[in-house]
Amino acid sequence: MTRRTCREMTVGELTPLGQSERPGEFYRLRLLGPGFGTWEPGQFVMLRPASWDLELLWGRPFSLAGADEEGVSLFFQVVGRGTRRLAALAPGEKVTVWGPLGNGFAVEPGTRTLMLAGGVGLAPFLGYAAAHPAPENLELLFAHRLPLDCYPYGELAARLRAEAVHEATPADLPRVIRRITEKIAEYAPDGLVLACGPTPFLRTVRQAALDHGVRAQVSLENRMACGVGACLGCVCRDGLGHHVQVCTQGPVFWAGDVQL
Ligand SMILES: Cc1cc2nc3c(=O)[nH]c(=O)nc-3n(C[C@H](O)[C@H](O)[C@H](O)COP(=O)(O)OP(=O)(O)OC[C@H]3O[C@@H](n4cnc5c(N)ncnc54)[C@H](O)[C@@H]3O)c2cc1C
Ligand code: FES
Repeated sequence: MTRRTCREMTVGELTPLGQSERPGEFYRLRLLGPGFGTWEPGQFVMLRPASWDLELLWGRPFSLAGADEEGVSLFFQVVGRGTRRLAALAPGEKVTVWGPLGNGFAVEPGTRTLMLAGGVGLAPFLGYAAAHPAPENLELLFAHRLPLDCYPYGELAARLRAEAVHEATPADLPRVIRRITEKIAEYAPDGLVLACGPTPFLRTVRQAALDHGVRAQVSLENRMACGVGACLGCVCRDGLGHHVQVCTQGPVFWAGDVQL
């Protein structure tokens, strides 16, 4: 079987979401063109628009929010130069996409599964929920700072049990951590917890899962340059202190197998 990992795709739609203090911060992006027959939710792609030329050398990694034979869907937040340029793409522009890359989340249809998303960490769960064979066993807890309509939360809340917890100010943080911890405890002893979000959020999830003896996976969003194991730009440490490459050995790890 040949596996096509590098494709030239074109921008189909670029849709801004919600309004935050910085308008134009969150987007859904649909890329068309040789799409993906098989992929696992939790896997990611590297993107590099042709218009970046030599100005921005490295591609940027994004979780697959959905993929099919016709193209891929992504959800991203503008945080710097690359994502700012992505937000300015026009329909029909060419983008080099390589992937699907890395390992996806565990899928255990008969197991109660909690999806824990922090902010833009919601992206892989759009694909996970859509592909899961028993969505009645899924639940979402979504922690967010910016207004809810910045995120495609409503899409998931319409189909699954879902709860959003808002950290409007730093004073809300203890309440958010308490809620995450309570939810994780509900999944002991035999449930499964999957998490994606900023590192402090993943740290909370990892610790609570270890404390309550719940099996948990975390998806790491380390900075990446190549995405394919060649540059060592993405390394973190495993439970024994050894280096692991997040792009090829992750981005999804069992919580006990990585240091955060
Ligand atoms: C496997 C994986 C999946 C990802 N999925 C998504 C996704 O679905 N949606 C999404 O919006 N983002 C996702 N990210 C993060 C995304 O890759 C970065 O936000 C993006 O590369 C930043 O590029 P930039 O050029 O705009 O920022 P830069 O100009 O390179 O940096 C600007 C700011 O962004 C911060 N930054 C850079 N890279 C990251 C990163 N990886 N994580 C957090 N902050 C970063 C920098 O510290 C800096 O403060 C993912 C990252 C990985 C590794
Ligand atoms: S990003 Fe290059 S080795 Fe992981």
